[in-house]
Amino acid sequence: MQLLDGKLLSQKIEQQVNEEVKTLKETCGCTPGLAVVLVGQDPASAAYVNMKKKACDRVGFYSITHDMPENISQEAIERTIKSMNENDSIDGILIQLPLPAHIDTTKLLELVDPAKDVDGFHPYNVGRLVTNLDGFVPCTPLGVMELLKEYNIDVKGKNCVVVGASNIVGKPMASLLLNADATVEICHIHTDDLKKHTLAADVILVGVGVINLITADMVKDDVVIVDIGVSRTPEGKLVGDVDFENVSKKSSYITPSPGGVGPMTIAMLLSNTLKAAKINAQKKKSE
Ligand code: GUN
Repeated sequence: MQLLDGKLLSQKIEQQVNEEVKTLKETCGCTPGLAVVLVGQDPASAAYVNMKKKACDRVGFYSITHDMPENISQEAIERTIKSMNENDSIDGILIQLPLPAHIDTTKLLELVDPAKDVDGFHPYNVGRLVTNLDGFVPCTPLGVMELLKEYNIDVKGKNCVVVGASNIVGKPMASLLLNADATVEICHIHTDDLKKHTLAADVILVGVGVINLITADMVKDDVVIVDIGVSRTPEGKLVGDVDFENVSKKSSYITPSPGGVGPMTIAMLLSNTLKAAKINAQKKKSE
């Protein structure tokens, strides 16, 4: 069994981003800029945004967090997004999800300029991903693909079972795998007999937030396991969706959780923001 070390790879990627930021600053005087919209007091969201901000600082990005109260109006968030769309020092806009129930999330995601959509949640970028065109790809599934590539795990022709069908993780994960010529199944909360599907999988990618959802009896020998889930045990420990201790004994490769996919999500946010900044720098040059 080999660990898929997302922490190590994310550090490597950060270093590369850092080098490219230096070059960008020297050649065009541009500093990549990320704007984050955070609404309410959810501690997990606040922690994620804080980690994203720190990562921006480490690689030399400019970043700004719009910290908004829980009861903020839809219109006020829309005004902020519109002003970030028009702000030349902002290359990427990220709306931390989930948003409070009174907010129309879809409308906000559609308001983000697709060229600044570093989360890849705008339907324009979703469509480009599904049709295998270049665009912005959601950070978590993109990070998983980078991690598989780093360990030379080729999914071409392999049976890949994605567990979880969210717009943020499961669906884009399935699209990326399909674009890489895998055979893809998407299982979700309504799937009958999950074990029947996972037992046939060469690669299982699971991100639903249910502790010990995937147990050793549900996987075949030498399976590749990518654990995207994050939950907190009653004791306060962060864990994934996989019974790591027992499943790891049957796996060829497995991500630890934490330390697997999580750091890759942040590395891909940096990479997507750099990509947006480079495109914007090119645009400015040709104007
Ligand atoms: N909430 C949970 N994951 C994510 C993510 O990748 N991006 C954003 N914006 N919100 C999230």
